[in-house]
Amino acid sequence: MDDFTWQDAYHIGNETIDTEHRHLLELASRVVRFRCRGERLERVREAIVALCDYIKIHFTHEEACMAEAGYPGLPAHRVLHAAIVHEMNAILRSSGSDLDQLVHKLKRLMHSWVLDHIQEADRQIGEFLRQSRESPAA
Ligand SMILES: [Fe+2]
Repeated sequence: MDDFTWQDAYHIGNETIDTEHRHLLELASRVVRFRCRGERLERVREAIVALCDYIKIHFTHEEACMAEAGYPGLPAHRVLHAAIVHEMNAILRSSGSDLDQLVHKLKRLMHSWVLDHIQEADRQIGEFLRQSRESPAA
């Protein structure tokens, strides 16, 4: 089951950020797919590491994008990102060798935080960038 198919609702209107969000969802889908298919444990673990690494890389890019645009919500947005990373690290630490539990918790994190985050907090960045483009400061 592929729970992380891209939907128009995830679109925030910034090409760089949208492309990275798509990739994030692809990496999450890959984790779920590998586990459902019964891929070798090593491959599932690699897919999990790739997802978790990319979440951090993406947040760094997104924060740089906000800083460059002078987005006033950057400090608050950084806190949201830090909370997601904190939760992700807690999941990685607490699941030990129970791969099913790890995949289940990561799926939940991706759904309840990352997807909501994209559709709420990240959408506001997209809106700010669009307004800055349409009426740039003198
Ligand atoms: Fe974000």
